[in-house]
Amino acid sequence: MKRACALASLLLLSGCQRSQSTLYPKGPAADRIAHMSWLMLILFLAITAFMWILITWAISRRRGTLAEHEPVDVGGGQGWIAWGGLAFPLSVLCVLFILGLKLMASFPVHDSHHHDLHPTIAIIGRQWWWEVQYLGAPAQRFTTANEIHIPVGQPIDIELRSLDVIHSFWVPTLHGKVDLIPDHPNFIRIQADHEGVYTGTCAEYCGAQHAHMRLVVLAQQPADYDAWVQGQLQPGAEPATDAARRGEQIFMAGPCSMCHQVRGTLAGGRVAPDLTHIASRLNIAANSYPNNDAYLEAWITHAQSLKPEAAMPNLTQFNGQQLRDLVAYLRQLK
Ligand code: CUA
Repeated sequence: MKRACALASLLLLSGCQRSQSTLYPKGPAADRIAHMSWLMLILFLAITAFMWILITWAISRRRGTLAEHEPVDVGGGQGWIAWGGLAFPLSVLCVLFILGLKLMASFPVHDSHHHDLHPTIAIIGRQWWWEVQYLGAPAQRFTTANEIHIPVGQPIDIELRSLDVIHSFWVPTLHGKVDLIPDHPNFIRIQADHEGVYTGTCAEYCGAQHAHMRLVVLAQQPADYDAWVQGQLQPGAEPATDAARRGEQIFMAGPCSMCHQVRGTLAGGRVAPDLTHIASRLNIAANSYPNNDAYLEAWITHAQSLKPEAAMPNLTQFNGQQLRDLVAYLRQLK
């Protein structure tokens, strides 16, 4: 039983690693980076094998004692050093350097070099979450957080900005890292070749909750994606139950609405994640915890335990009924 558990957890673990591994690319950019990594790995393995062959050869060919080979300044062997120690590694490293530069130059990161960039999404790094703005015609704009939906098989240009410190956007199965730098927009072009959920994380240390600054990319069939966009464009759902109606009142009258926005209501705070469709998202707290009743209650009352130093305070002023009503309201914001 113990062994079965260990095996299951190992499989689970390797499953997680796969979903966030550069070795399992799921888009063209990550594919090319993976090719480069494999080329380097194979090259270095070949060179290591060759070195061991040389060492074995030298050991097996050596005759007599070490003393007989003195003095060491008899010379010889400089050719090995010049060719094997200098010329060969230098040329290999030069080739890899040029290939690396070419690969990097082919990724559009600055709009001054790539005029074909047409960002349809802007991602703004915040301590410690991702604000996601869908751009486009004014009537087609909406804001969400920590979860990026894209249509499958299409290149999507994303503008990366930061409002506080330097963060780094990294979805390993789709692309390499690109930094989000204050006052200096960068760009990334991602494409997912298959439907799926691709997890990512902030890859630049940005403070206490850097490790809890995760993101999710959902690649959907174009029809599903369009349906999702239409849903996101809608204002927050009207509460249909008594509990949700009471929860909405608590949300609007209490501190929630000062920081969070629910479009179509009086809640217009812009400093914290937009909650208009919070119930449709997979996770909460920048993908640190699952989006369910229990974690929402825990997050409202004890955010500082779940994510110390995050901007979300511990809201302990609600009684049990008020807390459940509040969560009922949030859970129907689909
Ligand atoms: Cu944001 Cu690390």
